[in-house]
Amino acid sequence: MKKILFATNNQNKVKELRETLAKMGFELLTNRDLDNPPEVVENGRTFEDNAVLKAHALATYSNLPTIADDSGLMVDKLNGQPGVRSARYAGDHNDARNNAKLLAELGGVPTEKRTATFYSTIVVSYPGKFDQDLIVTGSTDGVITTIPQGENEFGYDPLFYIPEKKKTYAEMTVAEKNEISHRGKALKQITALLPGWLESVE
Ligand code: IMP
Repeated sequence: MKKILFATNNQNKVKELRETLAKMGFELLTNRDLDNPPEVVENGRTFEDNAVLKAHALATYSNLPTIADDSGLMVDKLNGQPGVRSARYAGDHNDARNNAKLLAELGGVPTEKRTATFYSTIVVSYPGKFDQDLIVTGSTDGVITTIPQGENEFGYDPLFYIPEKKKTYAEMTVAEKNEISHRGKALKQITALLPGWLESVE
């Protein structure tokens, strides 16, 4: 099996990618499989900037083809916040505090004005070929609930409601979420493009 690195410590993201990559014949390694991987400061202005920072740093360190995802929630009523600051919206990276802050900021805002979009940019980099990065994006529209709904505790999932499915992301299985989610849509493009891209850079 060919090895590919997913430049993340986030096991929820890993769950969403592992099966798809395995079906394509890849063994998915993550930062946990590396000794002392570099901490990447995510100080880019866009999701793409941050995904590129992670993919380049970890591809250089591991010498493996490397996938990185940067994602975030843009809430219309908050002029697109938290956006690229989604992870540290409430200060440090704490999902419960981020969710509490989001609900507080939207206090009293009626359902029809609680619209938001989740974005994902996935970058795949090949060591030494950083001018040929594969870059795809995905986005999904939803509505921010007034109370958390669902068991899955990944980030903003309990607050992100998909009207067509009548469920929050946190009420979906991984497969259901991948069907319609921002990251799932980006992942579908990766599935289509990765084999050809690898052949061209190797
Ligand atoms: P990053 O892409 O790892 O920088 O994460 C950005 C922030 O958005 C973190 O707080 C994540 O928990 C959150 N986030 C990213 N993707 C998702 C998702 O699919 N569901 C819920 N929260 C997410």
